[in-house]
Amino acid sequence: MAFRVGVLISGKGSNLQAILDSVHGRDGIEVVCVGSSRTEARGLQRAEGAGLGTAVFAKDDYSDREARDAALGNWLDEHQVDLVALAGFMEVLSGPFIRRFEARIVNVHPSLLPAFAGINAIEQALDYGVRVAGVTVHFVDEGVDNGPVILQESFELPYARDIETVEERVHEIEHRLLPRAVQLIAAGAVSIDPNQPRLVRVDDGRSS
Ligand code: GRF
Repeated sequence: MAFRVGVLISGKGSNLQAILDSVHGRDGIEVVCVGSSRTEARGLQRAEGAGLGTAVFAKDDYSDREARDAALGNWLDEHQVDLVALAGFMEVLSGPFIRRFEARIVNVHPSLLPAFAGINAIEQALDYGVRVAGVTVHFVDEGVDNGPVILQESFELPYARDIETVEERVHEIEHRLLPRAVQLIAAGAVSIDPNQPRLVRVDDGRSS
């Protein structure tokens, strides 16, 4: 039986594209639907190009966030998703939604969490003057960019800091790390330690 992934986006969808290019249709993994918080998200065209079902869940179309998330959750359940991948989904999800898909939602964030959570993480890191930056893929819990870390990758920043160059490097890492996390989860190689719920065991053949 296929491992079914629902992807949520808000923008360009380059992380969605990376998932489509490197894991969709391989190793029993299928992206089955793509949801967006915005009608104008360019990623929707990528999804349609790949023949996937799409839907828009804009907060303004619902009475409140809980109502939006209930509709989103029903739609994901109709698609029988095993995993929800937030790929540049720029919305906070409500508690009931997080609990409904407990330990089945992953997010990619453009910093080495817990540093620089929230929006504009790359700008925050550059403004702070960090020497090392990176990307985190984590499970989503009820805090903002707070859940247990699955994968992280760092890189050293050059002294001359041109934001576009740094963004390019971050995206290159994101486009490997998020698909890799999906692949590892689908393979059953990722588990949260029941005695230490912040700790994620990843059996990727490299570390434990
Ligand atoms: C990524 O950098 C992601 O980490 C951040 O938003 C960006 C989304 O890019 N949260 P894309 O829509 O996947 O191209």
